[in-house]
Amino acid sequence: MIDIVCGGQAGDEGKGKISAYLSYKGDYDYCVRVGGPNAGHTVVQNGKSYTLKNIPSGFLNPKTKLVLGAGAYTKTQWLLEELKVTGTRDRLIIDPYAVLISDEQTAAEKNASHFMEHIGSVGTGLGQAVRDRIERRSITFAKDEPLLKDFIQDVPELLNGCLDKGGQILLEGTQGIKLSLLHGEYPFVTSRDTTACTFLGEAGLGPKGVRDVYVVFKPYITRVGPGPLERELTDEKELERYHTKGHEIGSVSKRLRRIGAFEKRSAARAIMINGCTKIAITHIDMFPGNDRVKKYEDFTPEAQAFLESLKRLSAEVYPHPQVALVSTGPDMEDTLVL
Ligand code: IMP
Ligand code: MG
Repeated sequence: MIDIVCGGQAGDEGKGKISAYLSYKGDYDYCVRVGGPNAGHTVVQNGKSYTLKNIPSGFLNPKTKLVLGAGAYTKTQWLLEELKVTGTRDRLIIDPYAVLISDEQTAAEKNASHFMEHIGSVGTGLGQAVRDRIERRSITFAKDEPLLKDFIQDVPELLNGCLDKGGQILLEGTQGIKLSLLHGEYPFVTSRDTTACTFLGEAGLGPKGVRDVYVVFKPYITRVGPGPLERELTDEKELERYHTKGHEIGSVSKRLRRIGAFEKRSAARAIMINGCTKIAITHIDMFPGNDRVKKYEDFTPEAQAFLESLKRLSAEVYPHPQVALVSTGPDMEDTLVL
């Protein structure tokens, strides 16, 4: 069976942490990541923090093999560095048609004011690489890079073979619905769709094997680039609290994240369009007094009211997901299962 992790807002909802938790506690044969290195996923275990541009966040479980699908984009040197930091060389698998972003593509994006100023791109070159792929120009695939030859395997064969034998797969998506090229706030979006069915296609999987679709939300929304945010926070002291306690600084872009209020309407669309079965909430500890809470009863009335409002929202929106996981601190273990 396949479980998918999706972002319900504008990225940086804590998909990395939730994927790490699910993978560590679960029994997945493969943890698959798709999308580009513009997305930084943060995983913290026992105080040690990893910011991953490419390696799936499920790497903490040594039994899980790690996969980059045909819809993954990376840069060889970044990938090799992450392999070293995570010590995962012996369990990485790459689809031959995953794309390697060239230095020219990165430079082209960094030098284009359309990308950098108008859209607020992260500047990794992902958008340029996607553009070159769509225009069918010559691009470098993982199969073309001698340094990666040991990792190349037919990913769709492997993953579907695993499902056929009753195995389990965790599929980690990137960004969030507000950044989707199809369903987001165009033009302030990334270069691809960022919902569950696209992640499946990018991995070479069909929808039949899906068990759960986790959609991750924070009690507020952040954006690292321009684009709409409801009731944007302007109070300097409050902003600083988010940037420090909430670590709301772009993990790849290093920009201070803008903070807006939770948007019920976009959350409803995230539930609907992803076919969400389980909601995961992170950063509940940004409501004062909720650090590392261990039981639902111990949440403050403010945090409880937020969780109750989500349950009401879920009752209104198909497919009526369960509020399943609440993250109460940055560490992978600071997670409450409801
Ligand atoms: P691009 O995908 O780098 O072109 O960026 C397009 C927009 O999406 C910009 O506003 C970025 O800041 C934003 N963005 C891209 N990736 C992420 C992410 O992983 N987290 C948050 N925002 C992102
Ligand atoms: Mg991020």
